Amino acid sequence: MTLPKDWHGRLSVPVIAAPMFLVSTPELVTACCLNGVLGTFPALNQRTTDGYALWLDRIEERLDGQDAAPFGVNLVVHRSNARLAADLEVTVRRRVPLVITSLGVEPEVIAAVHETGGLVFHDVTTRRFAERAITAGVDGLIAVAQGAGGHAGALNPFALVAELRRDFAGPLVLGGALTHGTQVAAAQLMGADMAYIGTRFIATPESSAQPGHRDMILDGGGGDVALSAAVSGVPANFLRASLAAAGIDPDGAEIAHERNFGTTGNLRPWRDIWAAGQGIGSIGKVEPAAKICREMARDYRAALEQAPGLAAGLRT
Ligand SMILES: Cc1cc2nc3c(=O)[nH]c(=O)nc-3n(C[C@H](O)[C@H](O)[C@H](O)COP(=O)(O)O)c2cc1C
Repeated sequence: MTLPKDWHGRLSVPVIAAPMFLVSTPELVTACCLNGVLGTFPALNQRTTDGYALWLDRIEERLDGQDAAPFGVNLVVHRSNARLAADLEVTVRRRVPLVITSLGVEPEVIAAVHETGGLVFHDVTTRRFAERAITAGVDGLIAVAQGAGGHAGALNPFALVAELRRDFAGPLVLGGALTHGTQVAAAQLMGADMAYIGTRFIATPESSAQPGHRDMILDGGGGDVALSAAVSGVPANFLRASLAAAGIDPDGAEIAHERNFGTTGNLRPWRDIWAAGQGIGSIGKVEPAAKICREMARDYRAALEQAPGLAAGLRT
């Protein structure tokens, strides 16, 4: 397993709790970190850079002196993010251990994080994006496969991991519809080092998801999730019923720039149209993040213990 050296002995299961817009909170991050899972949140979950810095205070205070996993922050590296420079400055000054970049890759951002010893992992959905990220100097890749909540790739996870592994021997994290410790072990057997898990942590008391968002996850299955570009312009997985409630045909080919959300009432993308991955069918109740992390670690270990038995009865 290729894990950054600083993380050795700090995780109880090789999982990153993925950043989720309007869902991840400092409480969710710290509950994960205190239970052996690397917790993260998007800097944009706070309305201002000062607010973002206050969240870092809360996380650091809670984790100070504890036996905890590292935490991370997601920065959107795109010209639409007017806060990038200010948020990056705070991120670097506060020495955030892991920065997850999405929607763009900039060597200057990576260099700034490296200067204070932080690591940069970058979200990719194809080999071409991965090549750009590797050239730019990222430390790790996050393979976002088909079925992931929010912006998702089109590739099957087996295909994506195999393709990325041709050129990259460093830390590789696989995301997309993973919810259980057994699947974390499976991701490693496929060639990934870690799992990237978002949707599983929406139905927790620590998340700031709307009650309706949680309920739809508890009641739904993979078929209730649809890939649509109507919300952000980039294909992303949302709960079909929340798309329909916003007047969007879940099976339509609409893309965001054709729709002006400002004129369709008070609906706001992501707040009122809810993202989720295809793994929702295995989520049956709201449970504390600590319990989810502990069970993931337990089931991961159990799966690894059973793994040698899978070849029983075969010719050698
Ligand atoms: C509600 C929701 C919000 C998300 N917001 C972000 C975000 O702000 N930034 C980001 O990089 N990824 C975001 N994602 C994607 C996740 O970080 C991750 O790729 C995904 O959750 C993994 O697939 P899974 O949900 O099937 O576990 C979001 C996903 C969900 C479900």
